[in-house]
Amino acid sequence: PTISRHDYQPYPYRLPQVKLSFDLDPARTRVHAQLVFESASAGWQPLVLNGQDLELESVAIDGRPLRADEYVLQAETLTLHPRADRYTVDIVSVCKPEQNSSLMGLYVSGSQLFTQCEAEGFRRITWFPDRPDVMSQYQVVLRADKQKYPLLLSNGNLLEQRDLPDGRHEARWEDPHPKPCYLFAVVAGDFDCREEQARTQSGRPALLQVYSDRGSGGKTLWALECLRRSLEWDERRFGLELDLDRFMIVAARDFNMGAMENKGLNVFNSSYVLADKDTATDAAYRAIEAVIGHEYFHNWTGNRVTCRDWFQLSLKEGLTVFRDQEFSADMLAQGLSGAEAASARAVKRIDDVSTLRIAQFPEDAGPMAHPIRPESYQEIGNFYTATVYEKGAEVIRMQHTLLGEEGFRAGLEEYFRRHDGQAVTCDDFVDAMESVYVQKHPGKNLGVFRRWYAQAGTPRVAVDLRYDADAHACAVTLTQRCDPVGIEKLQDPPAEKPPLHIPFALGMLDRSGAALKPELDGTARDTVLLELREAQQTWTFRNVPERPVLSLLRNFSAPVIVEYERPDTELMLLAGHDTDPFARWEAGQELATRRLLALVGALRQGQDPAADTALVETWRRLLGDAALTPAYKARVLSLPAEKELLEKTSPMDPLGVVQARRQLRAQLGAALAPEWLSAYHSAQDAGDYSPDPLSAGLRSLKNLALSMLMAGAHPQAETLALEQYYGAGNMTARMGALSALVNHSKSPECAQALSHFYEQWQHDPLVMDKWFALQATAPGTTVETVRALMLHPAFSLRNPNRARSLIFQFCMNNLEGVHHADGYAFWAEQVIALDELNPEIAARLARAFDNWARFAEPQRSALRSALQSIQDREKLSRNVAEIISKALKI
Ligand code: ARG
Ligand code: ZN
Repeated sequence: PTISRHDYQPYPYRLPQVKLSFDLDPARTRVHAQLVFESASAGWQPLVLNGQDLELESVAIDGRPLRADEYVLQAETLTLHPRADRYTVDIVSVCKPEQNSSLMGLYVSGSQLFTQCEAEGFRRITWFPDRPDVMSQYQVVLRADKQKYPLLLSNGNLLEQRDLPDGRHEARWEDPHPKPCYLFAVVAGDFDCREEQARTQSGRPALLQVYSDRGSGGKTLWALECLRRSLEWDERRFGLELDLDRFMIVAARDFNMGAMENKGLNVFNSSYVLADKDTATDAAYRAIEAVIGHEYFHNWTGNRVTCRDWFQLSLKEGLTVFRDQEFSADMLAQGLSGAEAASARAVKRIDDVSTLRIAQFPEDAGPMAHPIRPESYQEIGNFYTATVYEKGAEVIRMQHTLLGEEGFRAGLEEYFRRHDGQAVTCDDFVDAMESVYVQKHPGKNLGVFRRWYAQAGTPRVAVDLRYDADAHACAVTLTQRCDPVGIEKLQDPPAEKPPLHIPFALGMLDRSGAALKPELDGTARDTVLLELREAQQTWTFRNVPERPVLSLLRNFSAPVIVEYERPDTELMLLAGHDTDPFARWEAGQELATRRLLALVGALRQGQDPAADTALVETWRRLLGDAALTPAYKARVLSLPAEKELLEKTSPMDPLGVVQARRQLRAQLGAALAPEWLSAYHSAQDAGDYSPDPLSAGLRSLKNLALSMLMAGAHPQAETLALEQYYGAGNMTARMGALSALVNHSKSPECAQALSHFYEQWQHDPLVMDKWFALQATAPGTTVETVRALMLHPAFSLRNPNRARSLIFQFCMNNLEGVHHADGYAFWAEQVIALDELNPEIAARLARAFDNWARFAEPQRSALRSALQSIQDREKLSRNVAEIISKALKI
């Protein structure tokens, strides 16, 4: 059952008014839906409604109950044959939240009730046209036991609340904004609430609220602050104001994803809401800020203008990720200017590009490769991917780069001018941007650029430099190609992949490291933006006094892989001097990558590679560079992630990567021990905890120094780590110390610290997730370790956070632990177990070995049989079936 983008048909009806009334009960919730339909096409069309796991009690048209032979009830549809242009349908149905472990639709979490409707969860609540291009105004009545569910929330404004007989009560909500059903939400239960009265730019009052489990209200201060800052930022940066009187965030313990932008009633995974200094790390504070921003920004990019169909998912997700990335970067750079601000923003850029490379590049090279606007799917839940989100954000960012800040903002304004209140496509977005682009670039358009929406795979751009000493000129040639990926590889003839429009930012340095200002078309600039639109193009620069050192793809101006051969010395020069902080970081990473890949090769041949000096010297200089901020320094001095390296080995060599990285860390730790030690001691963040970027930067550099000292087996390291652990005044310091210990030591003191951590935090679920994750990824952890942890009373497969912290962490991030036949068998077993409970989560885990065909024997065959063992199951969800069948096709 494959659904294709080209098969889109508009819905034959409009549904202006929806009235829903709920008798909430975890065992059986009765829903009465009253739907007013108006014909939107000629003739009387059958009315097809979606439904899943529902019991139908009655259905009526214009008040007349239908007999069983007047409708067709199938497994997932209810079909009626109305004979009017306008009519009202009344449907009464029952769903069973308690038995719903999928966490889609209406479900139970603890003693509370939540809904999750995106993408197709609303059909688990009532029969309905469950598609984003049907938009309606909602009136909702909620009834439930007052003691158990004192709080009854839905979208929009609370009109009335009153008590009913039998200890029940009722709340009436009305959302004035028409919306698709995926933005509908209900929450019921007992909560703490923290609130604040805010005022929008134009003076409109807005009540901001954060709800969380009883007793956790002390941990929502940061979330509320983030919400207020999101509000202000969207006004300031894009002129977008809140359109609601009341904006609510509710934290849920059981949640499939990060959070959900339901109109006026965001539901969040509690891990993106709750924070205090004792339980949340700096990284968690930053992640909360990003996700609160993300969901809030959806109110315009997603809710006011939504998607016509789910192939357009990146329309809202790519754009909103871009917006949350910019929000986070602006928060890091707040109060700074010039080079300091640039370096602060670069920290965010570095983190985002690392995520892209770790999660999206492999996806774009594997069996699930798809364009940011997919052409087809079997299960839309499988397409909430790094490609749609993160690469989608890069595609928006490139438009921002091509248009400039002002142009982009004008394009966005045009987009809202044209489409406010509509359900539209990615093309509609690019059209709006293009209307601005053509004004600035007469005779050009975004025609070639649009191919980014249609093409999968990570393009490669090869760089060639010719220097003419006599003319003081140099020619830079860029050549792009994008190899077939995923199922494209099986196509004969191979799929055509025409060139893309690639904004390529370039700078030049001289041999002393000073910036050159090359001249192109008569203008001299530090950074030039080359717009590559053809397979190959050459640009000639004047006024270049010597053969330049190229600084390539500055600020990662496009999601591509650059190919350029150059000596280590050039990378060392760039790592020491590039004025673009992103490219400077990149040069150091490239140098480290070369070293690590050489190590992997040497290990494979059983050789002992010569000790490195180039990298050690580069690291030494960077460590001692007083001009670098601690946060930036911590990024610059970290080695590329295992998964990034794995992508670059062929055949894939997970154990080689782990060993090489471990060896190089040991070497850098030992060779630079005095420097790490002094960095450790000087990075003191005095005073009370605050998650601000400056003190967080100090803590991250300090934790890096500690782990490098541990890696280098410094005689004082373990003592320092234990002191830091037991003396820690915040979770960042505590976790930094504990993970340095767990990852490098087998001493009884280390084991003691781990159980001390358990004793102290066993009542805090989010901290227990960290405790599980730490052990899942520790060196030496095996399938047996994980099985033992699964027997721990605190473990549960039903809670996605817990499953992620132990099983996903082990299967996806413990390369050494999982890459054996028994690791693969364990993985397959867990995919199957999870699939019974929660298909969406199971399908995520099912993707752990997308890249199986790129491994050497015996792993390759062992992985294939593990995949096969899942495929052979009789009852697989559509989610898991799609993933596994695609993986096995490769
Ligand atoms: N729209 C949400 C976000 O980006 C993601 C929700 C997806 N949920 C799901 N169960 N597939 O924040
Ligand atoms: Zn989103």
